[in-house]
Amino acid sequence: MSDFYKKIIDNNKKWVESKLAIDKNYFKDLSEGQSPPLLWIGCSDSRVPANEITGTQSGEVFVHRNIANMVIHSDMNMLSVLDYAVNVLKVKHIIVCGHYGCGGIKAAMNNNSFGIIDNWIRHIKDVYRLHKFELNVIEDENERFNKFVELNVKEQVSDLAKTSIVQVAWRNGQDLTLHGWVYGLNSGYVTDLDVNYSCNKDLSDVYQLNI
Ligand code: CO
Repeated sequence: MSDFYKKIIDNNKKWVESKLAIDKNYFKDLSEGQSPPLLWIGCSDSRVPANEITGTQSGEVFVHRNIANMVIHSDMNMLSVLDYAVNVLKVKHIIVCGHYGCGGIKAAMNNNSFGIIDNWIRHIKDVYRLHKFELNVIEDENERFNKFVELNVKEQVSDLAKTSIVQVAWRNGQDLTLHGWVYGLNSGYVTDLDVNYSCNKDLSDVYQLNI
């Protein structure tokens, strides 16, 4: 076994002991159920761990992660997580968290092919096309990259608001707010992009469902 592999098993034992030292019922209590107030939709990138960034504990954040924190409305995985979070767990907040330096976003800005993932990246290219005039005038490539990361988060928050799951919850009077964040890999800080949706009137006309 590799040293890393042995280390993570050992780390687990130490972690259990440290939790039990503070509260001997820690795992017993957690095993009885969860009612997290937050659903986190983030990037799969290993440097963007939802709980660590937000200083939250087990039981506080329901998590969905994929490449470039996308909300694709035909993605059964995302829809299932969203449905469970909204309708069963009754989360009060959903945060879409992107991050500067995102490899998925970078890939969508150029013409390189990476195999099957190209088909996932295409969704991000659609976001570029939607904002190409705003993006193409930015000459500095890094600045354009950062802007694209932010625009993609805003787009994903709006795509979340367009889902029937979220709109039905609002119609039922559920307290649910959507937010968009960007995480700085080199600072550790998140920036709240101030794209908050809490009713379907925040959406463009054509997306407002009469439900
Ligand atoms: Co990423």
